[in-house]
Amino acid sequence: MRVAGLFSGIGGFELGLRTSGHEASLLVENFPPALHVLRRRFPDVKVEEDVRDVTAIPTGTDLLVAGFPCQDLSSVGRKAGITGSKSSLVAEVFRILKTGDVPWVVLENVPFLLSLNKGSALSFVTQTLTALGYRWCYRVVDSNAFGLPQRRNRWFLVASRVGDPRDVLLADQATPPSVVDDYRSAACGFYWTEGMRAFGWTVDGVPPIKCGSSVGVASPPAIRTPSGEFITPDIRDAERLQGFPEDWTAPAEEVARPGQRWRLVGNAVSPPVAQWLGERLALPGFYDPSNDRPIEGPPWPRQAAWADYDGRIHAAKVSAFPAWLPRDPLATFLRHGGRPLSARAANGFLSRTRKGSLRFPAGFLADLEEHARSMTDA
Ligand SMILES: C[S@@+](CC[C@H](N)C(=O)[O-])C[C@H]1O[C@@H](n2cnc3c(N)ncnc32)[C@H](O)[C@@H]1O
Repeated sequence: MRVAGLFSGIGGFELGLRTSGHEASLLVENFPPALHVLRRRFPDVKVEEDVRDVTAIPTGTDLLVAGFPCQDLSSVGRKAGITGSKSSLVAEVFRILKTGDVPWVVLENVPFLLSLNKGSALSFVTQTLTALGYRWCYRVVDSNAFGLPQRRNRWFLVASRVGDPRDVLLADQATPPSVVDDYRSAACGFYWTEGMRAFGWTVDGVPPIKCGSSVGVASPPAIRTPSGEFITPDIRDAERLQGFPEDWTAPAEEVARPGQRWRLVGNAVSPPVAQWLGERLALPGFYDPSNDRPIEGPPWPRQAAWADYDGRIHAAKVSAFPAWLPRDPLATFLRHGGRPLSARAANGFLSRTRKGSLRFPAGFLADLEEHARSMTDA
């Protein structure tokens, strides 16, 4: 397929689609460090700088992809909703779709859009797609399904004017194995920037790599290794945890502070998820909808739903795991040593835990206190 990418970021969609045989013919991105990465990693592809300036997409575009801005739709963001200054840019996707006859569309965002303001963002998106003559389906998919030791649920929507999007997005289903019994035998991720209401605890994986945090800037998660050390991973391992080759975002350092790479990686679509979508776009599977029930609309099903050309919504019974690809445990997946979690970061986390009422795995806080003491003494 010939692909036009809007809100391309560092090209997670486009890289994954390239791996499955599709080619981008347009990339659109306005954040200078991301733009710099795109120009370096896709040197032959036309790049435009602002979605609002795109008047038409290349003739013969088969697929338009857009991970539209999530700041207004995220559980940790401004929660302004689909009319917020950033997320309202999804209207640009529809304006551009009206300029051509694009058979396939794939959108991506955070799953919080299913519930924020009673799912009004999703109502706007799906009603507009139906009015434009698309049938659609959505599914929350976990990047962890694709061999990455990162827990990352993201909402994906596939729409089509020519084929059945359910055979792309809903046809595959796998069962992940049960989790490790004793967390101490695995590397475990958590957010040292949190600790009061949540802390992102993930056994044998990291919580979702984010583009921002409660301390303002994008911050790495922390990892407790099986030997009891507390570290923050290297950015190159963060890129790999997202499914990019390591140093994919290194060109950003030519135009921005190194820390900006965390924001770029945290914003991105995991390329292996896009690769799977690309494989299914090339060779659709078969989804049997005969047991799906019609619903009236919001509240939106938390996992998956679909509508045919008539816009009648049906809940679908699929999980966040279309696959369960082989992976290394997090402890051996990491190639770079990372940095010890600083005493300041550890103590800040510990003081937040005392103010909240969260429960923590047995021995975890005592180990972290010991780590904070050793870092203060060092
Ligand atoms: C959620 S991120 C998408 C990330 C991308 N899918 C990836 O894999 O890296 C949204 C992107 O939209 C970009 N953006 C925001 N406003 C824009 C605009 N007016 N024109 C073009 N890009 C914009 C942001 O800089 C950000 O990189």
